[in-house]
Amino acid sequence: MSLPYRPIQWNESKVLYDAVIAAGIIGYLLVFAAVSLATGPRPDLPEAGALLTRASGSLAILMLHALLAIGPLSRLHPGFIVLLANRRHLGVATFLIAGTHGALATVLYHSSGAMNPLASILIGNGQVLSPYEFPFEVFGFAALLILAVLAATSHDFWIACLGLARWKRLHMLAYLAYVLLLMHTGLGTLQSSGNPIRALLLAVGAALLIWLHWKAARIERAKDAEIHQTDVDGWLRVCRAEEIPENRAVIVNAPTERVAVFRHWQGVSAISNVCAHQGGPLGEGVVEAGCVRCPWHGALYFPHTGASPPPYPKAVATFNLRVVDGVLYLHPTPNPPGTAVEPAARPVRRGSARPAATAPGSQPASGPKEGS
Ligand code: HEM
Repeated sequence: MSLPYRPIQWNESKVLYDAVIAAGIIGYLLVFAAVSLATGPRPDLPEAGALLTRASGSLAILMLHALLAIGPLSRLHPGFIVLLANRRHLGVATFLIAGTHGALATVLYHSSGAMNPLASILIGNGQVLSPYEFPFEVFGFAALLILAVLAATSHDFWIACLGLARWKRLHMLAYLAYVLLLMHTGLGTLQSSGNPIRALLLAVGAALLIWLHWKAARIERAKDAEIHQTDVDGWLRVCRAEEIPENRAVIVNAPTERVAVFRHWQGVSAISNVCAHQGGPLGEGVVEAGCVRCPWHGALYFPHTGASPPPYPKAVATFNLRVVDGVLYLHPTPNPPGTAVEPAARPVRRGSARPAATAPGSQPASGPKEGS
């Protein structure tokens, strides 16, 4: 069965995100040019080419730092989730700038000899034993290949093709690209200028990224370590229904995965905390127009079925809940994705004996918004 390819669904936030990226790129290049002109002689054409190579290279590595920082930052503060929503656009832009740098460097430094430019980059310099002469461009080339693969597979179509887990593993290669680029820029700095400020900036950038990832991992580990009491049948104690804020969730650590327990207009429902789109934390989302909205990319799910509203085919696992003495208990065994479960602790309307909610499986009060 072939998967349908749907072009990018442009919306206001994506256009704004891309406009900010474009403005940032233009601003950086202008500042780079102004500083170069202010601190050095007016460049001729080859020097201008070399300047543009350095400007695009340094911009690409800066953008890669931003890309790798957004994930842990949004674990540390929800204010950064807005940057996460269209992070793939930043990834593609990073590849385009890095590709510009690679192409300029290839033309400037590898196209005037008798050797094929690609062969010149890969095997033109055999000085592999000295860091002062090592062919550092090979690392840049390898990193550029990785960035190209990541940019080419950034569309949702590839998540559907490869499956979320495999797609995520593939995109972890961004860290390998980063390490290769540390070697590329570190050795390049050593060989071209030995400029301590450039080396220091690189070290600070790497240290900052390591610290952010360590801090975010510590927070996640602490959340995983929260033990939920179980009763004799293995049901996990959650809390009283009224302790869950309206249209929000509490996240429960079941033995195998995190579960988001939502209080919504029909009662309380439990679904997997992991969004089927890109693994976003559903329990940090809200219920809007009858659907849970993923905080990362806005994918929607009915809380009582775990299924996305039509025409979206995504679904996450649901979990069974029961109420004992006013306390919610969750059974940690997931139901198959999209399985309807009657909401627990259904609210009773004042002055009426009937529950306010409609039957599970019914449509939300107003039409759900489109997922990303
Ligand atoms: C085909 C791939 C690549 C080639 C042939 C290449 C080549 C070069 C060369 C020759 C330099 C030294 C420029 C100079 O000192 O004037 C350089 C520096 C640099 N490259 Fe690359 N590069 C490649 C890929 C990349 C990629 C993918 C990135 C980042 C995403 C990158 C980031 C940098 C940085 C940050 C510098 C130092 C810039 C500066 O002087 O401030 N390069 N590269």
